[in-house]
Amino acid sequence: MNAKPKVLFTNLIPDEWIGTLKDKVEIIQDNPDDRFDRIGEVEGIFSLLDVPIKAEVLKNANSLKVISNMAVGFDNIDVNWCTENRIPVGNTPDAVTDSTADIAFGLIIAASRNFQKASADARSGQWKGWSLTNWLGMELSEKKLGILGMGKIGQAVAKRALGFKMKVIYHNRKQLDHFVEADYVSFEKLLQESDILSLHCPLTEETLGLIGRQELKMMKSSAILVNTARGKVVDQKALIDALKDGTIRAAGLDVTDPEPLPIMNELFKLDNCFLLPHVGTSTIDARKKMAMAACDNLLAGLRGEKLPYCVNPQIYSM
Ligand code: GLV
Repeated sequence: MNAKPKVLFTNLIPDEWIGTLKDKVEIIQDNPDDRFDRIGEVEGIFSLLDVPIKAEVLKNANSLKVISNMAVGFDNIDVNWCTENRIPVGNTPDAVTDSTADIAFGLIIAASRNFQKASADARSGQWKGWSLTNWLGMELSEKKLGILGMGKIGQAVAKRALGFKMKVIYHNRKQLDHFVEADYVSFEKLLQESDILSLHCPLTEETLGLIGRQELKMMKSSAILVNTARGKVVDQKALIDALKDGTIRAAGLDVTDPEPLPIMNELFKLDNCFLLPHVGTSTIDARKKMAMAACDNLLAGLRGEKLPYCVNPQIYSM
């Protein structure tokens, strides 16, 4: 009988989420400090988004057949290196769609209705009675939600927004032919017209710092920025300034740069910023689906088959 293929797990995953994988592979897992020491032995890597997997460690992975990232994002992995070396990289898009869209919509409501200030006031003795003029927010109905990146999550957020009687506009690499309830607009128009701008693009060389000082200035002063994508898509220093000087009204963030965000960071001091610690996919449902999809990608790669979800499918025609 053949030995089970060795797979490096960068993080501990609950047994019940990975089902029968343990019967099929030998799991290699070491302390964070020496987690890559045995990379030369493994045929697969099962990773999470908080562990960078860069060329300097990959160059020692002499038997590697597949990297399976249990996340939709893959900016923690040097995908260019993997493509050059014909290593497929898997991700878990469908599994995260609804939980991430829920969090984006939660942030839309939280930022537009002043959850940060209202909750802080209630907890610190500033709730003196029902107030006519305190904690006033913005109603969502009839407002324009702008979506940057109309992939699966962007579309799921758009569907939620339509249920709230919002108008939806979007900018994407391509106009979609099947989402007729939302209007395709240029990037500039998206910035200028959105009452709420929600980011749903991956972090790539093109999207790094895409929302900078200039772009924030193009937004309405009453607008809200929501980010459930990646912190680095936004120039965070420029965002802090924009929130302080009223260039925009508020922000709802599930992602920051860096993560975790140091407790002294100015974002934590702003009443008009509602911040979560990257919990977009933090539901048991999503995590189970993500783990299952990541196991499927891993096992397909170990067998030398095409991954069900592959971020660099061009390797199959190289
Ligand atoms: C979450 O941020 C993910 O990429 O899955």
